[in-house]
Amino acid sequence: MNELITIIFNLFMMPFEKISLNKRRKELITKANGKVLEIGSGGGINFNYYNPKNIESLNVLDLKFNKFILNHKLNKEININYITANAEKLPFEDKYFDTVVVTLTFCAIDNPNKALEEIYRVLKDDGKLIFIEHVLPHDKAYKNLANSLNSTWKKVGKCNINCDTYRNIENANFKISNYEKFGNKVFVFIKGIAYKI
Ligand SMILES: C[S@@+](CC[C@H](N)C(=O)[O-])C[C@H]1O[C@@H](n2cnc3c(N)ncnc32)[C@H](O)[C@@H]1O
Repeated sequence: MNELITIIFNLFMMPFEKISLNKRRKELITKANGKVLEIGSGGGINFNYYNPKNIESLNVLDLKFNKFILNHKLNKEININYITANAEKLPFEDKYFDTVVVTLTFCAIDNPNKALEEIYRVLKDDGKLIFIEHVLPHDKAYKNLANSLNSTWKKVGKCNINCDTYRNIENANFKISNYEKFGNKVFVFIKGIAYKI
């Protein structure tokens, strides 16, 4: 994500961060442990929530890193490895990671099902996928609106607003726990921890 898009994205998300996202990030990211892979780090908003005591290695992967993230020095206790790659083809061996973290990113990945297949592959059998995502509204009118606006929004906002991420995660052979849906009628978010079946 380039600098300009990061600034616009952060400004747009600010109210959601304050009202609901920050505390969910804190609750979930502190549960990351062992060898950790974060996919789609954007401006590095999750970095301060990792608990250094639980982390063996923190590997963050994105299509493109910008100077904000590369200058990130806030979490000095954790050494961060930056990997430029596509989530649809993860450059790691099978069953390598204890935790994969994905926040507000499945909606930006062209083929989220392929990324989930890859996440399943690189996670250890007892590993976990921590996620927070925005998804298609349930309300019929907003759902139709999101579906009809999606292709235009994708060009501007670089993400899909009609993702069914809960179902995608389940279809990838994960069992979801700690699940919560939150937000409002228009902006719907889900969060949880998914384990391999
Ligand atoms: C909307 S930002 C999310 C930033 C951050 N995780 C958060 O919670 O705010 C989505 C990020 O996913 C990255 N991304 C999109 N498609 C990707 C892919 N196929 N592989 C890896 N990263 C990808 C983008 O470059 C961007 O940094």
